[in-house]
Amino acid sequence: MPDILPDATAEFARAIGPEPDDVIREMDAQAESEGFPTVGPAVGGWLQLLARLVSARRVFEFGSGFGYSAYWFAQALPDDGEIVLTEVDAEELDQAREYMARGGFDDLASYELGDAIRTVGEYAGPFDAVLIDNEKHRYREAFEAVRPKVAEGGVVIADNAVTAGPIDFEALSALVKGEDTGDVNEHTAGVADYLERVGADPAFETALIPLGEGIAVSHRVD
Ligand SMILES: C[S@@+](CC[C@H](N)C(=O)[O-])C[C@H]1O[C@@H](n2cnc3c(N)ncnc32)[C@H](O)[C@@H]1O
Repeated sequence: MPDILPDATAEFARAIGPEPDDVIREMDAQAESEGFPTVGPAVGGWLQLLARLVSARRVFEFGSGFGYSAYWFAQALPDDGEIVLTEVDAEELDQAREYMARGGFDDLASYELGDAIRTVGEYAGPFDAVLIDNEKHRYREAFEAVRPKVAEGGVVIADNAVTAGPIDFEALSALVKGEDTGDVNEHTAGVADYLERVGADPAFETALIPLGEGIAVSHRVD
């Protein structure tokens, strides 16, 4: 995961906490060895904290990989809570199932193989916390699909609001400021489009947390 902070600051953010447990440390090691783009520990800590701040009971994830972000969320959920993990890769989802079971979170979790944007249509709301971490050019589509199901007082969190492998930050920054850009790739255009959509939505207040690859946090106020 290319962290947008200088190494020393990123390490400092991780040291402040919350403290990862042994399962998260193992997942971090797997991500490191495979070069898998989890949200990373600093953002993971924020997912957990945000879930606690909104007293989340139900969480939906667009793109769960091997369960890293879900595991952080799950630590903040009550015993009767629920988290829906979605993933197009069956092997990743199987690993998520194993990690979540090891954390004692299996009873909270539903595992959905396939396109998250199709899956969300099969669930009734409300969701108190939503993570958008699927294909960047479909972030807006994910938001539109889940928007009616976001609880008032809930949060929608989009990862890669600043960077990711294919995102051109200069172009993203120009687009967000309404400046002219030349051709941009679909990932960059997708994130810019999402930020514009959610930023202009009067039902949400959005702010950036510049940790990891950057998360845009949108709080439903109406
Ligand atoms: C950047 S990874 C992050 C996973 C996880 N949120 C984490 O922090 O570890 C994104 C994952 O989303 C999955 N994905 C991409 N598009 C998807 C879609 N439309 N529906 C479900 N999963 C998707 C990918 O296969 C990948 O495993």
